[in-house]
Amino acid sequence: MGIIFDGHQQVFHLQGKDISYIFTILKNHQLGHIYFGKRIHHTDQLASVIRYAPRAYTACVFEGDPEFSLDYLPQEYPAYGKTDFRHPAYQIRVEQGNTITELEYVKHTISKGKPKLEGLPATYVENGDEAATLEVMLRDKYLDLDVILVYTVYENVHVITRSARFANHGKSPLQLLRALSMSLDFPDADFEMLHLSGAWARERHIKTRPLVHGIQSIESTRGASSAHQNPFLALKRKHTDEFQGEVYGFSLVYSGNFLAEVEVNHYDDTRVSMGINPFDFTWVLAPDEQFQTPEVVLAYSDQGLNNLSQTYHKLYRTRLARGTWRDEERPVLINNWEATYFHFTEEKILSLARAAKELGIELLVLDDGWFGHRDDDTSSLGDWIVYQKKLPHGLKYLGEEINKLGLKFGLWFEPEMISKDSDLYRHHPDWLLHAPNRRLSHSRNQYVLDYSRKEVRDAIYDMMVAILENAPIAYVKWDMNRNMTEIGSATLPKERQKETAHRYILGVYDLMERITRRFPEVLFESCAGGGGRFDPGILHYMPQTWTSDDTDAVERLKIQYGTSFVYPLSSMGAHVSAVPNHQVGRITPIHTRGNVAFFGAFGYELDIERLSQDEKDAIKDQVAFYKANRRLLQQGTFYRLISPFQENATCWMVVSEDQRAALVGYYKVLALPNSRFFTIKLQGLLPDVQYELQGTGKTFYGDELMYLGFQLPVKTQNPGDFTSYLWKFQAK
Ligand code: DGJ
Repeated sequence: MGIIFDGHQQVFHLQGKDISYIFTILKNHQLGHIYFGKRIHHTDQLASVIRYAPRAYTACVFEGDPEFSLDYLPQEYPAYGKTDFRHPAYQIRVEQGNTITELEYVKHTISKGKPKLEGLPATYVENGDEAATLEVMLRDKYLDLDVILVYTVYENVHVITRSARFANHGKSPLQLLRALSMSLDFPDADFEMLHLSGAWARERHIKTRPLVHGIQSIESTRGASSAHQNPFLALKRKHTDEFQGEVYGFSLVYSGNFLAEVEVNHYDDTRVSMGINPFDFTWVLAPDEQFQTPEVVLAYSDQGLNNLSQTYHKLYRTRLARGTWRDEERPVLINNWEATYFHFTEEKILSLARAAKELGIELLVLDDGWFGHRDDDTSSLGDWIVYQKKLPHGLKYLGEEINKLGLKFGLWFEPEMISKDSDLYRHHPDWLLHAPNRRLSHSRNQYVLDYSRKEVRDAIYDMMVAILENAPIAYVKWDMNRNMTEIGSATLPKERQKETAHRYILGVYDLMERITRRFPEVLFESCAGGGGRFDPGILHYMPQTWTSDDTDAVERLKIQYGTSFVYPLSSMGAHVSAVPNHQVGRITPIHTRGNVAFFGAFGYELDIERLSQDEKDAIKDQVAFYKANRRLLQQGTFYRLISPFQENATCWMVVSEDQRAALVGYYKVLALPNSRFFTIKLQGLLPDVQYELQGTGKTFYGDELMYLGFQLPVKTQNPGDFTSYLWKFQAK
């Protein structure tokens, strides 16, 4: 592994174990892109990949030279206005009012390891040998502006990370209108674009479309990465499937408004750009100030989509997530939300805890409604003080009683929000995002606190610390239940109002950093009305996220399948809930609800006291099963085998790191009359090792299961909707 600078050709070559990323310094001193993909040798002819020729109806950079035009040259961090007519990576309004800039190569450094990003979440290394970093300094000499492009290549994970830093050394302020994290030009457009789109309760459904000429993009303008579009896209070859073929992934480590854009030009070149959404964004870069973009993680696989996802899983589970809980087995929890909603008493929570203990559950989470005077969603956000009417003995007492029963205690917060009916609002009516004189739009009767302001964050921090220090709280659910409107801040000057949304996210990161550092033993789970902010940015602070408010087992097949494109199983909160399901009204068997939720950070979300003895017995077995297999489920290698987006069945499996244990989940949505027999080809096993199918005494070689396939038992043909099976294979 390493980074080569070939001075003779002026070529940079980042080489991981399996990937190469190559670019050069062009004649006009801008950076030209050469290659990203499977690792290739370094040769002395790499720069000649870039071809120059006079072309009709274009504009050229140098007088007398009809061959050098940025209209078609592949680039690394392009600008608009100097012969490239495509969307640029950045755009700056300069003092004179125009947006013409030229970033020329000045120097570079190559170092071991990976530097931190100031104030932003990012992937990291634990020792310097895991990765190497290249920083290329570009300068606009008339503006005295430096832009530092930062590239890291990991040795064993097939990714390149990229970000950009702007530093104004000039005397005048500059306006960053667009400051993306990366841009990358491919020499063809023979791709399909895959993205994860949805809405509340149906997050991260997989969408695929062929590239066409022009711009195709996904974005968020909601102030959060959103349930609607995830900050991820992949470009796959048409024949690429889960198991074979080329695919490139682009994942933005950011939780706010983003843009992921693919532009195909008239020569069938493809430009991928990603970063903070330029829409409704302007950042004033004053003299001596710097602006750091978020990081993009670019991944490559020539072995299909599963392999790409496994790359992200490994990196995000071990080098994006942090803290005590990163590698720990996550507890089986019960959350009272769907059991009681707002209507609980101290005694009800304690009796739920007693019943949970009987079933082997390890943690009880008290959700919304424990603070201020909150009986519904119209009040109290911002008043993080216990609601005496519901919890007369306080949180300390409740936590200790739960601990005495042998369970840990967890608590819900929604730290970024404020209700008008709250003391916080009465004392600080200007602490929310707003635009002067404009009526405030509400969502779920709540408003968004202005997290760009430190005093606002400090006040929430103090309230949270007081709660977390004074009660035995082992887990926190950090919720966020609305998107932004009237985006403006009372304290920013008018020329900086368009910084508010990004400053807000920086503020969220700041508070998450402070709280998680202050309470390193606490397990934090993020949430945003379900999976409305399930992104790599938040995962840096909180190792798991509530995947969706939709807990229906059938809906969850699609949601979890789609989420697994980028995010590891350890990050996906997945709970068994009641039937009829509260979101869709569907009745599914308890074993199917368990079999789906096992493939995530497992728990329950229902009133277990109301269940029949049979259901309680089933839960007891599920909890015991999960505990026995959770390391495998949370940290194993995950494979998608049959897609719920294409079939009536779904199948996925997880294989232990040593490949000696595997769990296969198979889910049939609707019963099929008189159907054919099914066979599934398993993945990731050791071909020469014999595996026992637990509970049957039958053994199979790994190659048999992977190539001949596992013949689904005849019982799986049996009628019945929403049935499922779980098979464990253990090496003998
Ligand atoms: C939305 C979350 O996704 C739910 O799990 C629950 O915590 C509610 N908010 C509480 O208001």
